[in-house]
Amino acid sequence: MNTTVLDRPKGNLKPLNITEIDPFIDLKAEIDRLRKERNAVILAHYYQEGEIQDIADFVGDSLDLSRKAAATDADVIVFCGVRFMAETAKILSPDKTVILPDMKAGCSLEDSCPPDLFRKFREEHPDHVSLTYINCSAEVKALSDIIVTSSNAEYIVDQIPRDKPILFAPDRFLGGYLAKKTGRDMLLWQGSCIVHEQFSERELVKLMGTHPGAPVIAHPECPGHILQHADHVGSTSSILNYVLTSDADTFIVVTEPHIIHQMQKTAPDKTFIGAPNDDGNCNCNNCPFMALNTMEKLYLCMANMTPQIEVPEDIRVKALRSVQRMMDMSPPVQPAKNV
Ligand code: 13P
Ligand code: SF4
Repeated sequence: MNTTVLDRPKGNLKPLNITEIDPFIDLKAEIDRLRKERNAVILAHYYQEGEIQDIADFVGDSLDLSRKAAATDADVIVFCGVRFMAETAKILSPDKTVILPDMKAGCSLEDSCPPDLFRKFREEHPDHVSLTYINCSAEVKALSDIIVTSSNAEYIVDQIPRDKPILFAPDRFLGGYLAKKTGRDMLLWQGSCIVHEQFSERELVKLMGTHPGAPVIAHPECPGHILQHADHVGSTSSILNYVLTSDADTFIVVTEPHIIHQMQKTAPDKTFIGAPNDDGNCNCNNCPFMALNTMEKLYLCMANMTPQIEVPEDIRVKALRSVQRMMDMSPPVQPAKNV
């Protein structure tokens, strides 16, 4: 007989109190044991270190991860990503326990958009519809009309009546890219991602000279002077998919370099070159927030069941409206390409 959601045993959520990790334990085996004991699902973003991606039940972009978080029947969602992603999971699945390895894993885009200033911005432009990138706090989501991710933003903008003016926050580069792509006039909040704004156009052009014909694939959080050189611009899932379907054998990757781990796994015969910043060094483009999550902290959060994400119910209900609009306005789910 199949085990249904109703007769499946509940996970044991009792916290342990582990402060020091025994250096002799097998972390992977312990994480796996806790995953089963707690009936937990581990979700990871492509910018997490390779070992975390490999132990996760699912690896994806922001939209994929939101969809997984909404659909899972696990008791615990272990979110290996940054705080706004874990908060989105809690907004969608309030009855589940959502934990993340390090509560300090924030995002420069979230930091650039304090709720009080955003509320004022909205009040100054009452006739505008506000489209907000998912990289923001739950409070800013609650103040927004529709949430978007980099994989559905263009599709959603195209559904907004052309006579309706748009406010886009908090990423000025993604907003600028969308305004250009859709031909829409947008009022842009002036936030940016500290990782994607660091790529050097000069170094990129040099690299293109050394690898003629290698497609440049870039995330739309990059500034326009970088995107103008890109053969493909898209979310992390979209650029991964491009690599899998392209005939090219070498690619210049202009986004957080940990995605290359997944590219190498799915296309081992191809070559991936991370784009450099001004120092000519691609390592500085690691996201410092994503890097706060480690295998050790992943183990500890699953053992101790902390830190847990909490979103005040009044904010959650309002944020759910804008997140649910995003879900309803998103393109249909693509066939699974996860590894
Ligand atoms: P996507 O994974 O949705 O492309 O977003 C990237 C990002 O901003 C993660 O910080
Ligand atoms: Fe935020 Fe940029 Fe890091 Fe993504 S890569 S979490 S946008 S700081």
